[in-house]
Amino acid sequence: MTSAPAPAPLVLGIESSCDETGVALVRGSALLGHAVASSVEEHVRFGGVVPEIASRAHLEALLPTLRRACEEAGATLADVDAVAVTAGPGLAGALLVGVAAAKALALGLDVPLLGVNHLVAHVAVDVLVSGALPERSVALLVSGGHTELLDVSSPAGQGVGALRVELLGQTLDDAAGEAFDKVARLLGLPYPGGPHVQRAAEGGDPAAYAFPRGLTAAHDLRRHPYDFSFSGLKTAVARQVEAHRRAGGEVDGAFVADVAASFSEAVADVLARKTVTAALDRGVGTVLLGGGVAANARVRGLLAERCEAAGLELRVPPLRLCTDNGAMVAALGALALADGLGPSPLDLATDPGLPVSTVVV
Ligand code: KG4
Ligand code: ZN
Repeated sequence: MTSAPAPAPLVLGIESSCDETGVALVRGSALLGHAVASSVEEHVRFGGVVPEIASRAHLEALLPTLRRACEEAGATLADVDAVAVTAGPGLAGALLVGVAAAKALALGLDVPLLGVNHLVAHVAVDVLVSGALPERSVALLVSGGHTELLDVSSPAGQGVGALRVELLGQTLDDAAGEAFDKVARLLGLPYPGGPHVQRAAEGGDPAAYAFPRGLTAAHDLRRHPYDFSFSGLKTAVARQVEAHRRAGGEVDGAFVADVAASFSEAVADVLARKTVTAALDRGVGTVLLGGGVAANARVRGLLAERCEAAGLELRVPPLRLCTDNGAMVAALGALALADGLGPSPLDLATDPGLPVSTVVV
């Protein structure tokens, strides 16, 4: 008689690199429990994430969020077989809260600790949706804190130990989400700006203003084929708003709609253009999209259109898994554990600038 194979280990994932406190429980590629607390409301009056406020909010939210995730999974801490946590990149103080909690849990429960890379976790979350990572892919990560284009290679059956992640390009100034937030402010819309800009853009003409597409001129493409720059675009919007005011116009109605639509078009165009070029240059068949800006209908729509035209498969996880969360951390932790990686030392240091090539610290 053969006995049933042992179930995959239950991995607890903790995320605290920016303004979302995320905790989740994952077994293999199954997401069992998932809770997120966001401090976004506390940053509204400052128009952007204030690191000190974010750190304090993580401290307050961590245990209640942990409790919610366990309840949803129908599990107790005694069931946890390993603790994975974001070790970087991210805000220094915010990272410390999650890592300190993860160390205490790993020590108290006598289970392995895995300090993982936040950006790679955004890619690994696809395991919870698709069951396995594509063998080769280009990932576009766009949020309020980061904008990266990654080349990901994950040879089938070789585990996360064979996972190679290469940074192809990143923003030289503002992150894509940050650009949405700053443009929202110029248009008199609340923080976080992305959803408001999207709503305003709905009735607007995307061709009303020919806003610049950063780093797409021939000479820029030679030096920065896969890098992004959104500060010129933001300045162009500011100039348009200024000129409109000088001419006696109000910043409202059709003007806001046209600027929002033209701005969104410029962001979506650059993101889609560089991502598709990278995938074709690298001979990769799959594109992964992650980060809060994946919520943007025009970004998703244009990327989908251009991927289809280029014969590329586009994978976009459900939105709750695109924004920062504990499930992506647990998913990467589970892959690492299955592959015999780690454990990380209990004196694991946080690294706000952790390079994307380091999957597990
Ligand atoms: O991944 P995320 O939730 O977390 C952090 O970066 O902390 O991303 C938040 C960012 C914000 O900048 C927000 O304005 C942007 O994602 N965002 C959007 C949309 N929804 C959220 N940007 C454009 N369109 C949206 N619908
Ligand atoms: Zn993120």
